[in-house]
Amino acid sequence: MMSENVAHSELDAIVDKATCQIEAAEAEAELEALRVAYLGKKGPITALLKSIGSLPADERPAAGKKITSSRNLLEDKIKRKRVTLQQIESARRLEAQRIDVTLPGRRYFTGGPHPLARTLARMQEIFLSIGFDIAVGPEIEDDYHNFEALNIPANHPARAMQDTFYFPDGRLLRTHTSPVQIRYMEKHKPPIRVVAPGRVYRCDSDITHTPMFHQLEGLVIDETTTFADLKGVLEYFVAEFFEEPLNLRFRPSYFPFTEPSAEVDISCVFCHGDGCNVCKRTGWLEVLGCGMVHPALYKDVGIDSERFIGYAFGLGVERFTMLRYGVNDLRLFFRNDLDMLSQFR
Ligand code: DAH
Repeated sequence: MMSENVAHSELDAIVDKATCQIEAAEAEAELEALRVAYLGKKGPITALLKSIGSLPADERPAAGKKITSSRNLLEDKIKRKRVTLQQIESARRLEAQRIDVTLPGRRYFTGGPHPLARTLARMQEIFLSIGFDIAVGPEIEDDYHNFEALNIPANHPARAMQDTFYFPDGRLLRTHTSPVQIRYMEKHKPPIRVVAPGRVYRCDSDITHTPMFHQLEGLVIDETTTFADLKGVLEYFVAEFFEEPLNLRFRPSYFPFTEPSAEVDISCVFCHGDGCNVCKRTGWLEVLGCGMVHPALYKDVGIDSERFIGYAFGLGVERFTMLRYGVNDLRLFFRNDLDMLSQFR
C-alpha cells in the first residue's frame, strides 16, 4: 500500500515535470533529448516499470497499468509536440523563402544584330532564294585584283575616283567588292551566279562618307545572259528588299569593268515619286551601279568572251539600310550608340 502511493506520487511528479519540459521545448532535438531522458532505457519510467517486480503480487497489475499509461501519455505528448514544432519550423522556412511577387523584375539586356548585319543577311537571303551563290574575298587586296584585272590600269582616271589606303608594300585595302568578281572567276567557270558582300575602304570621311563601309557585288555569267536579265533580277531584289514594287530607272554611266554601264535609281521609298527631302525633290534615289561585264575581264581568268556574256552590279549596303529603316545619318551606324542600336533588336 505504502509503496504504491510512493510510486504514484513519484510517478505524478515525473509526469508533471516531463509535461512542463515537453511544453517548453523549442526544438526537435530538445524534444528528442527529453524522450530519451524520461522514456529511454535509463529513464525513470523504465526504472519504475522494473521496480514493479519488487511489489506485492496483488499490486503489480494496477501499478503496471498506471506506469504504462503514464508512459503512453508522455509518448503522446512528445508526438504532438513534435508535430507542432515541425509545423512551426516549416512555417518559419516558408516565411524565410517568401518571394515578393510585386517587386519589379530584373531587366536583362539582350543584344541584337547590328542594322548593317541585318541588311547584309537579308540581301543574301534574297539572292540565295533565286539561286545565287555567296562568295567573299580578302579585305587586304593587291593592286591587280582591285584595279588591274578590273580594266583599271595604272594611271587610268578611274583610279582617281577612289581614294585608296595603300600599305607600304603596295597592297591596299580594297576600295570595292568588285575584285571578288575576278577572284571568283579564277576559281569557277560559267555558269556563274554569285553575290559577294563585304567591307570596303576609302580614304574619305565626312557627313556622307566613312572610311569603311559595305558593298554587295553581284556577278552572273552564262551563254545567253542579257541586260534584260539584269533588270529583272534587280527589280525583283529591290521589290523583295523594300517589300513593295518600286520603279527602276537606268541611267547610262561609266565603269571600266562594265560595258555598257548604268547607274540605277529607284522611285523614292519615302515619297513614292512625289518629291521630298530625301530624294531632293527628284522622286528618285540612286542606289547602285551595274552593267554588262567588260570582255577585258575574261581574258586573264580564261573565260571565252565569244561564248560567255555576263552582267555585274554593285550596291552600297549603308545606303540600302538607311532607306529601309529611315536612318538619316550614316555615322549612326558606326557610333555604337546603344539607344540607336537597341531599336533594331
Ligand atoms: N565597284 C563600283 C564602286 O565601288 C560599283 C559597281 C559598279 C560594281 C558597277 C559593279 C558594277 O559590279 O557593274 O563604285
